[in-house]
Amino acid sequence: MSSSVVIGAQWGDEGKGKIIDILSENSDYIIRYQGGNNAGHTVVIDGESFILHLIPSGILHKGKTCIIGNGVVVNPAALIEEIEKLSARGIRVEKNLLISEQAHIIFPYHWKMDELREIAKGRKKIGTTKRGIGPCYTDKVSRCGIRMADLLDVNIFSKKLKANLKEKNAILRNVYGFKGYSFNAIYKQYMNYREKIKGYIKDTTLIINKALDKNKRVLFEGAQGTMLDVDFGTYPYVTSSNSTAGGACTGSGVGPSRIGKVTGVVKAYTTRVGEGPFPTEFSDKLMNIIRHKGKEFGATTGRPRRCGWFDTLIVKHAVMVSGITEIVVTKLDVLDGLEKIKICTGYKYKGKSCKAFPANIEMLFNVKPQYEELPGWMSDTSGIQSFNKLPRNAVRYLKRLSDLVGAKISMVSVGSERKQTLKL
Ligand code: IMP
Repeated sequence: MSSSVVIGAQWGDEGKGKIIDILSENSDYIIRYQGGNNAGHTVVIDGESFILHLIPSGILHKGKTCIIGNGVVVNPAALIEEIEKLSARGIRVEKNLLISEQAHIIFPYHWKMDELREIAKGRKKIGTTKRGIGPCYTDKVSRCGIRMADLLDVNIFSKKLKANLKEKNAILRNVYGFKGYSFNAIYKQYMNYREKIKGYIKDTTLIINKALDKNKRVLFEGAQGTMLDVDFGTYPYVTSSNSTAGGACTGSGVGPSRIGKVTGVVKAYTTRVGEGPFPTEFSDKLMNIIRHKGKEFGATTGRPRRCGWFDTLIVKHAVMVSGITEIVVTKLDVLDGLEKIKICTGYKYKGKSCKAFPANIEMLFNVKPQYEELPGWMSDTSGIQSFNKLPRNAVRYLKRLSDLVGAKISMVSVGSERKQTLKL
């Protein structure tokens, strides 16, 4: 089958941008199906770095059709900024980007609510990106959201915006003590956005299904990671969409029978941004070493990422819920200098062993990870060009990860450049 899904198998930031960029070369259509500009996909080409938040990374290849699917929530200001920045760097966006008419639109009241809710939660905050993602998805599910199709119809748009502002302003004023927003200002601003993006808005579900009918190669680009999935992640410390492979179907309008393979991207260790449980988190000393070696700072918010050992329970869970057929291991080179490397193979909770990933959040905060220790390889892998040339202990580590999570490895990445990728 000519379609495949690429997802993050941990807490996001696994290096999907680079892998999707590589796989895009052999794809005709690249589709984002969930999330919004909370994502930050970094791609480095010949030393030049591109950070994409909404537009699929495939845009960096000539002649690919890139689609923002119905499952994505779109902040038009962020989208226009991204289009303009890419165009200024010589990337052709105009002919190659399409936006679903069913994609929901983010408004200023969404990000304001995101921010104020986080402040109100205090120590119990989620640590969101404050991009309005959760409140926009809330409106979608509450059936009061405003979609791209509405933006094309000025009368409907105006009515829906008025109705939303009435409710949102009341909440903002009465619950959070914020002054609220004026209809005229938002209306004017969004009519400006409309002029800039209306040409991209299409029936993308039809376009994708027609492409599949013609055996075109379709790549679904996941954002965030399995542990941030609203159903299967560390709820409530998650994002508000399905970042697992199932989201590719509902977020694009393609049936499950049309999905071929599912690739899970994993880091050779684990990271997460924001609050929530993280059983294998490092102590301060190792945290600093890995954070700096791995440049573990968020591409969207610049926040330092929390780092820890590879956790097989998490990745096994990801393999199961997304039906992952192969994994790509990234950032192996970040572990180059370590004498010993640990892999978490299970948890203990109140003295009892736990071999599967638990849903109970209190339990996750309190489990004791059980480790297996392997010798490090203590040599630089960043210049290695083929899997066979990797140090013996690095191969041993990778094989062990693959056995433990139950998926074969198809690629290993040893640096941010396209050429630092070993295909198996
Ligand atoms: P939200 O998606 O902004 O609502 O944030 C919810 C949680 O998901 C927070 O812990 C964020 O740090 C995390 N998150 C959202 N997007 C990303 C991403 O692209 N990479 C890593 N973490 C993310």
